[in-house]
Amino acid sequence: MEKTCYSCHGPKAEGMHNYPYLANRAKGFLEYKLKRFRDKKADNQQQEMMVAYAVGLSDEEIENLVTFLYEYKDEEQQERYDDSYRVHGDGGS
Ligand code: HEC
Repeated sequence: MEKTCYSCHGPKAEGMHNYPYLANRAKGFLEYKLKRFRDKKADNQQQEMMVAYAVGLSDEEIENLVTFLYEYKDEEQQERYDDSYRVHGDGGS
């Protein structure tokens, strides 16, 4: 990922610790969130962390970011992220 987003959200935007995952989230949602952060609207201390990173973004950069994240695919797995973990193949029959 460009910028420094990956240092908190993870190199594959999968999230880590208490940082939310971003990959494949709805574009409208991500755009709304980023613009809110950019306007310095934070509901809690965690979000203030994001404000520092969002203030530097232009409309165009936000658009590029949300498109990138929405379309993001793990190159090795070629699968979209899902909240549930699926096990393939060894269930027997
Ligand atoms: C210093 C760590 C840090 C960095 C760097 C960072 N974020 Fe975040 N981000 C957070 C935290 C913490 C939250 C969760 C805030 C909360 O509690 O809702 C968050 C939330 C978000 C959300 C809202 C997701 C949701 O589920 O509510 C978006 C979108 C987002 N970040 C995008 C970005 C982008 C794009 C970048 C790079 C420009 C970035 N972040 C860089 C820490 C970071």
